[in-house]
Amino acid sequence: MSKTQTHEFDAVIVGAGGAGLYAALEASSIPGNRTAVLSKLLPIRSHTGTAQGGIGAALGNVEEDNPEWHAFDTVKGGDYLVDQQAARILADDAVQAVYDLENRGLPFNRTLDGRIDQRRFGGHTRNFGEAPVKRACYAADRTGHMILQTLYQQCIKNEVAFFDEFHIVDVLIEGHRCAGVVALELATGALHVFHTKAVMIATGGFGRMYRTTSNAYANTGDGPAVLARRGVPLEDMEFFQFHPTGIRGMGILITEAVRGEGGILRNREGERFMERYAPTMLDLAPRDMIARAMMTEINTGHGILGDPSQDDYLHLDATALGADVLAKKLPDIREFCQTYLGLDPADKPIPVQPTAHYAMGGIPTDLDGRVTADGEAGVYEGLYAAGECACVSVHGANRLGTNSLVDLIVYGRRAGRHMAEFVRQADLPTLPGDAATHAEMIVKRSDKKPQPGQAAKIRTSMRDIMMDSVGVYRSGAGLSKAVEQFKALRAEAQDVGVGDTNQAYNTDLLEFLESQNLLDLALVTAASAAHREESRGAHSREDFPERLDERFLCHTLVTVEDGSIRFATKPVDTSIWKPKPRAY
Ligand code: FUM
Repeated sequence: MSKTQTHEFDAVIVGAGGAGLYAALEASSIPGNRTAVLSKLLPIRSHTGTAQGGIGAALGNVEEDNPEWHAFDTVKGGDYLVDQQAARILADDAVQAVYDLENRGLPFNRTLDGRIDQRRFGGHTRNFGEAPVKRACYAADRTGHMILQTLYQQCIKNEVAFFDEFHIVDVLIEGHRCAGVVALELATGALHVFHTKAVMIATGGFGRMYRTTSNAYANTGDGPAVLARRGVPLEDMEFFQFHPTGIRGMGILITEAVRGEGGILRNREGERFMERYAPTMLDLAPRDMIARAMMTEINTGHGILGDPSQDDYLHLDATALGADVLAKKLPDIREFCQTYLGLDPADKPIPVQPTAHYAMGGIPTDLDGRVTADGEAGVYEGLYAAGECACVSVHGANRLGTNSLVDLIVYGRRAGRHMAEFVRQADLPTLPGDAATHAEMIVKRSDKKPQPGQAAKIRTSMRDIMMDSVGVYRSGAGLSKAVEQFKALRAEAQDVGVGDTNQAYNTDLLEFLESQNLLDLALVTAASAAHREESRGAHSREDFPERLDERFLCHTLVTVEDGSIRFATKPVDTSIWKPKPRAY
């Protein structure tokens, strides 16, 4: 193995999606703050770039709107597991955050009089649920791509140091003080220690633990998995969102904006089946409700094939939008359909299935992005998290469409500001003498015997189990079995060697490390889902179909210690709206 190098910075951000880049921008805007971003990819290939339909903000440019309605929709959409002050901040700050992006050069679509245009999205309503409202600001169907480009350019301007193609392996935490991270340089195979006053984890989601997902290959939950191994609890891991419209068999996202612009879901009889499930919001009900409705249609023989045993699907009918609207407002979607399905959505319906899309849970943080410990232990000093890998919690049991981008921008910026101020005042903590030892043990596979194909087999099993037992519908028996299966797969993975022994771009090793991260997160997701004996938001238990506020109006905290899983709870902030049953 090459010699370990050590670097010193004031702030180190791991992950170069929307949250990481916004935080880097804030950290680097204080003169003298030396800020670094580590990214497994070239930053502009981060998964934020695939966010399509829009970013929600109550600008009221097209229809009357109000941040309070946005916050309420967020809380109700999250089935009242959302922390309500966090949702107020999200909705209030979204307005300024969108104007900031505009001022930094983001090319939003415009109304005829030159203001930022807005369109409909699921669960966005006016006046506390009365009727749909146009709240999503958008740049065609490339909103995330534009955010990423805008922020990256600004970071370059601020002279942020980028370490591209660096994979996080360990976080250095002593007591409750974070002193840095250790990362693997993919180009050389060398380990690098980043000694710093503050670390932010912004590594994004982990949808790759499922077979069918809208997530990029890189979404392997590296940040939460590394922290969990250091004893940091994870919050609300049982809540994983399925987006209703993934391309059949591939999971590639077809944005909700297609329905926002007038697209309709239909079953094999051509019926607009959402009329029976959500009579007011129809195809723009929250995603958990639509995904369940779709699975129910498929399971009762109303899928297009009429056969639930055949990986059945439904139709998203966008033909009424016309070629002109598709070309102007949804050009990528049209191209995806042409490329992957050989059809033009202006002429033919799109075959769709629910696809694993978004983790509502993750690393617990306070309102300033500081990572929180279990119980009374407070925060980890100098350790932050933001974006999909974090749980502040503004999404509760089910995230509303567009709120992922809002979360990145609002809480990425907020956490970045707090971190910038913290590093201005803090001293550099002492670096442990054995800083790289744990990471060396993790990446060293030379004492294990390579077993060709074994790592891939373990990954495939994990994805199948997640899809079949920890998907849209779940049961106690299926979840308990999944937990045991994941424990066995983790044990098996311990002994798998890596065939490729090269140092440069050892993708065998990278895939192995990523799979270990995914397996750890799959285990805590299944275990947390087994633990929550109720149905709420995206967590739908066939054996416990009701929401049970008396027992479960609380956040789950899960810790894995020496292979055993420990649960704790954290209260939900319901200081503004009293929980009610959801109807749309
Ligand atoms: O449907 C979409 O465009 C996805 C947006 C989101 O996940 O917020």
